[in-house]
Amino acid sequence: MRGAILNSAPVEAGHQIRPLTDAEFTLFQKFVYREAGISLSSAKKALVSGRLACRLRLLGLRSYRNYFNYVMEESDTERLHMLDCISTNETHFFREAAHFAFLQQHVFPSWLAQAASGGRARRIRVWSAGCSSGEEPYSIAMTLLAEPGFADWHIEIIASDISTRMLERAQAAIWPTAKAKDIPPRFLKLFMLKGVAVQAGNVKAGPEIRSVVSFHRMNLNDDACAIAGTFDLIFCRNVLIYFDTASKQRAVSRMVSRLEHDGYFFVGHAENLNTISNQVRSVAPTIYAHKPLLEEQSCR
Ligand SMILES: C[S@@+](CC[C@H](N)C(=O)[O-])C[C@H]1O[C@@H](n2cnc3c(N)ncnc32)[C@H](O)[C@@H]1O
Repeated sequence: MRGAILNSAPVEAGHQIRPLTDAEFTLFQKFVYREAGISLSSAKKALVSGRLACRLRLLGLRSYRNYFNYVMEESDTERLHMLDCISTNETHFFREAAHFAFLQQHVFPSWLAQAASGGRARRIRVWSAGCSSGEEPYSIAMTLLAEPGFADWHIEIIASDISTRMLERAQAAIWPTAKAKDIPPRFLKLFMLKGVAVQAGNVKAGPEIRSVVSFHRMNLNDDACAIAGTFDLIFCRNVLIYFDTASKQRAVSRMVSRLEHDGYFFVGHAENLNTISNQVRSVAPTIYAHKPLLEEQSCR
């Protein structure tokens, strides 16, 4: 069966792929939810059909049912391609400016004071969960590395995503110059390289920020989602928005278990954890800390 599909010729020009039926859509809906936690409402049928059509064309398949069978029978590779097509990867540098201001105005001064009094190690670990093409972790890297007080600190940013296509882009760290418009000019000057010759019109992340960020494929819906150690900051922004409540609760619980007792958890502007986790409390819009930390603070 697999061989028969693989040996088919690419669909010839003008040959139509049969429209996605409701029954076929349900198959993808259930599979994507089980695999990635992403909940696709029936309003997403046209989007799914449009995004998967290129895979059908490439594989020479004429129906979504055939493609579904192929995904089920093939190795993990086609599952990755399918999830790549389904996931929404929109991102930009310094998205949610209030988060970066919160770090600079509240978090950094407090960490520097604690370290000066011997109450904290000079190290910072960050997790950018659902990092897409890398703008988020590199924005965090620039913010941390530009802070003079952190000059002798050890900084590590783990960036993860389910999409291998996005992770490849993030690792390449090259963007059209227009994408760099969201980077504050002083950071642009300090940390980004301007492309020349074949790279003219592009910018690339410089070695300093690249050296503190590493990229890993991780599925936040996977109970076995393996990540070592704990984090001072966790950014999971505009990712859980695609999950239903049950998958959100599981993913958040796993991530919060990795948050340092005095760490912070950031979500996207349209998200909140109020009904998702009773382990954290809001310290500012879309920013959360462990509950015990907040109780300590209110006693001071
Ligand atoms: C809209 S982007 C958000 C990027 C960035 N965090 C931001 O706020 O700009 C959402 C990202 O979440 C990723 N994603 C979706 N489901 C995921 C899952 N189950 N595990 C890990 N990443 C996932 C997608 O591949 C996509 O790159």
